[in-house]
Amino acid sequence: MKIILGIGGGIAAYKAAELARLLMQQDHQVQAVMTGAAQEFIQPLTFAALTGRKVLTDLFAIESAIEHISIAQEHELMVVAPATADLIGRLALGLAGDFLGTLYLAFTGPVVVAPAMNVNMWQHPATQANLETLRQRGHRIVEPDSGYLACGMTGPGRLADPETIVEAILLETRKRRDLEGEVVLLTAGPTQEPLDPVRYISNRSSGKMGYALAEAAAARGAQVNLISGPVHLPAPRGVELIPVRTAAEMREQVFAHLAPATIVIKAAAVADFHLSHVPAQKVKKTAARMSLELDPTPDILAELGRKKGDRLLIGFAAETQNLVPEARRKLESKNCDMVVGNLVGGADVGFESDRNEVVLALRTGETIPLPRASKREIADRIFDQVLKLRLALHAANGH
Ligand code: PMT
Repeated sequence: MKIILGIGGGIAAYKAAELARLLMQQDHQVQAVMTGAAQEFIQPLTFAALTGRKVLTDLFAIESAIEHISIAQEHELMVVAPATADLIGRLALGLAGDFLGTLYLAFTGPVVVAPAMNVNMWQHPATQANLETLRQRGHRIVEPDSGYLACGMTGPGRLADPETIVEAILLETRKRRDLEGEVVLLTAGPTQEPLDPVRYISNRSSGKMGYALAEAAAARGAQVNLISGPVHLPAPRGVELIPVRTAAEMREQVFAHLAPATIVIKAAAVADFHLSHVPAQKVKKTAARMSLELDPTPDILAELGRKKGDRLLIGFAAETQNLVPEARRKLESKNCDMVVGNLVGGADVGFESDRNEVVLALRTGETIPLPRASKREIADRIFDQVLKLRLALHAANGH
């Protein structure tokens, strides 16, 4: 495999040489890229000797100004070790002031980050927030070891052993292709149901859960069609984004994109009621009270359940209580293969949060809790279970 090895400027830079040696021993092609600070700790010549390739250090010293683009396109995985606090911050912000930062933005494959720094720097909220940003992007973080640190203190912050980093690279590679050939149809975000040309009813869905599922599927090789209500998130990379506003528009786009889909996941918070006849003019504040006569919207998930075919259908259940019984009820009543249940209304889960905690109700009868984690981590775990479920259902049907 062609691997980019990004080396940051920490005392652990010497261990990156051992990592380079291990990767070369496993017949990978390694392209070393060093930050300016890294060159204060170890010579580029070390990595040139170990990898047999010119070490990239200075963005402006290369033959052509677009070499970082071709290098990004040629390589299959990027590992950054040691990733210092400064380097993690620059990657999180997408700063492209040096070769490594520019290469990171141009690279679209899996990224493995192995931090190394003083324990206080490691525990600082700024560092942890930057790491959470990288996790949200689906990068694999190789947690540092605890122990005696070069600064004389003890605690977490020591670069993980090169063997551990190599293992993480292997895991990342395996995961990468397991949705190859799948066509994933996703819905995300809220819907907006107009009350007049000015007003609408909606809900608190930010789209983060659905977008995390879209990013995870695309990163693992799937073709992704994402039908999204109005949200404030950038379109995930490598995903076909279809924007909608109302439940009716969402339903139309779902069935317009259903045919090629092998996996359908309904993460959107679709309004259950709407105004059937929206007045053409703004409703004036003349009346002392305003009452609304709302009608049910189309239940898209239930209709998908009636037209499931042999594709996998995954629904969500947003509950404030009785989570598992409600998830199982929806599994049955909507003919789903899996329902992802999550409590909404609590802190740091459900609507708007960066993290979630879910329970998976499966057609096989299993109920699998997924502990609180970033929505991207939860998304990856959901796809792990979706693939296992398909094998179990095929086996049960004698395929
Ligand atoms: O977007 P975030 O801020 O990240 O929040 C994530 C989330 C909480 C919105 C998400 O995790 C979630 O729970 N989504 C489903 C919300 C919802 O509408 O749940 P529900 O129990 O009301 O609906 C059950 C299922 O039926 C859902 O799959 C929903 O997409 C679907 N549905 C509902 C109504 C309708 N008219 N048509 C539908 O298809």
